[in-house]
Amino acid sequence: MRTQVAIVGAGPAGLLLGALLHRHGVDNVIVEQRSPDYVLGRIRAGVLEQVTVGLLEEAGVAARLHAEGLPHSGFDMCFAGQRQRIDLQRLVGKHVTVYGQTEVTRDLMDHRTAIGRQTVYDAQDVAVHGFDSAHPSVTWREGGVAHELQADFIVGCDGFHGVCRASVPAGAIQTFEKVYPFGWLGVLADVPPVAHELIYGNTERGFMLASMRSATRSRYYVQCSLDDKVENWSDDAFWDEFRRRLPADDAARLVTGPSIEKSIAPLRSFVAEPMRFGRLFLAGDAAHIVPPTGAKGLNLAAGDVGLLSRALAEFYASSGPARSAGIDSYSQRALARVWKAERFSWWFTSLMHQFPENGAFGARMQLAELDYLFTSDAAQRVVAENYVGLPLAA
Ligand code: APR
Ligand code: PHB
Repeated sequence: MRTQVAIVGAGPAGLLLGALLHRHGVDNVIVEQRSPDYVLGRIRAGVLEQVTVGLLEEAGVAARLHAEGLPHSGFDMCFAGQRQRIDLQRLVGKHVTVYGQTEVTRDLMDHRTAIGRQTVYDAQDVAVHGFDSAHPSVTWREGGVAHELQADFIVGCDGFHGVCRASVPAGAIQTFEKVYPFGWLGVLADVPPVAHELIYGNTERGFMLASMRSATRSRYYVQCSLDDKVENWSDDAFWDEFRRRLPADDAARLVTGPSIEKSIAPLRSFVAEPMRFGRLFLAGDAAHIVPPTGAKGLNLAAGDVGLLSRALAEFYASSGPARSAGIDSYSQRALARVWKAERFSWWFTSLMHQFPENGAFGARMQLAELDYLFTSDAAQRVVAENYVGLPLAA
C-alpha cells in the first residue's frame, strides 16, 4: 500500500488531520490499533474553542456541532463562599462551545466514511520505520497477516502511550513533565446540569467541576487522592461528595441519577520537543498532555493538526525549496502555542485544587490570587483570553 501521509491513531487529532488533508486534496490513510466502538467509547473532553470549531468547519464536519452544540459565553468560579462569573463575551468578545469529544469523534468518523478515505482499525503491532529517510513506512498485523504502508510522511496522532514518540531515538527528543499529587473522579449521568454554565470550585474538601454534555446529560468531577479507586465510589457516595462541594444554592437544585460512566484520571503536564523528526511529525497527546482543568487537550490537538495540515498542503501544492517552509517551522509554531496552553492549564490547576503539602502559606497564596482575580477586570481578561484559546499562528 502507498499514500502521501500515513496517520497513526484515529482519535480526534488523527481523524481531524485526515479530514483537513482530504480538503486540501492530500491522500492519507489512518492506522488505528483499536476498534471504532472502543475509540467512540472513550469519555473525554467537552469544551471547544472557536479555533477548533473553525477547523471543524474547514474540514466540513461542523453541521451537527452547530445544531446541537451549546454556546457558552462565561463560566463561574467559586471559593470560600464567593462566586464570580468570568464573562468571556464581555471580556474578550469570544465564547466556547460545549459539545462532547465523543460527538466530535463520531462526526469525524462518519465524515471519513462518506469521503471514502481508508482507516485501518484493529491494527496490531503497529510500527513506524525509515522516518529519517525519504521513504518512511508503517507496518502492522491484522488477522495474522503482515501489512506495510509506504508514505511520504508519517504523523503520530497516537496519544500519550503511542508508538510514534516511543520510536524516536532518546538522544533526539527532550521531554518535560509534572505529575500532580491528585486525580479527578469523573461521573457522566443523564441528569439535567445543575447550572446553565460550568462551575469550577476550590473548596476545603477539594476541587469540583460541574460541566455538561447537553441539557439532559451532565459531566461532574471531584478532586480525589491518587491512591483512590473508582470501586470505592458508589454513585451515592459520589453524589454526597459532589453535593458537599457545590455552592449551597446549586446543591439544593442538584438532580442525581445512575452514572453511565465513572472513572478516575491522573493529572499530568507533559511536552515532548521537538514535534518533528525527519519525515515523522507528532500531534496532539502524542506530543503533549495538559491537566484537564483548562479544557485544552482536545483544542491543542486540533491546533496542531490545523497547522500541520496547512504545512503539508503547501508542500504538495508548491515546488522548489519554499515548499518545505511550513513543515520546517511546524514544530516551533506548534510548541509556541502548546507551551502557552501548558502554562494556563498548570496555573488554573494550581489555583483551583487543594495542595495540603503547600502548607498554610500556599493556601493563603491561593486565596490571595482568587481574591485578586475576583476583584480585577484585568486579571479576569487574562483568564478569559486563555480559556477561549489563543489564535492559531498564521
Ligand atoms: N498504533 C495505532 N494506534 C494507536 C497506537 C498504536 N501503537 N497507540 C495508540 N493508538 C491510538 C489510540 O487507540 C487512540 O485512538 O491513537 C489514538 C490517540 O487518540 P487520543 O489519545 O484521543 O489522542 P488525540 O487524538 O491526540 O486527542 C487529544 O483529545 O482525548 C482528548 O482531551 C483528550 O487531550 C486529549 C485530546
Ligand atoms: C468536561 O466537560 O469534561 C470538561 C469541561 C471543562 C474542563 C474539563 C472538563 O475544564
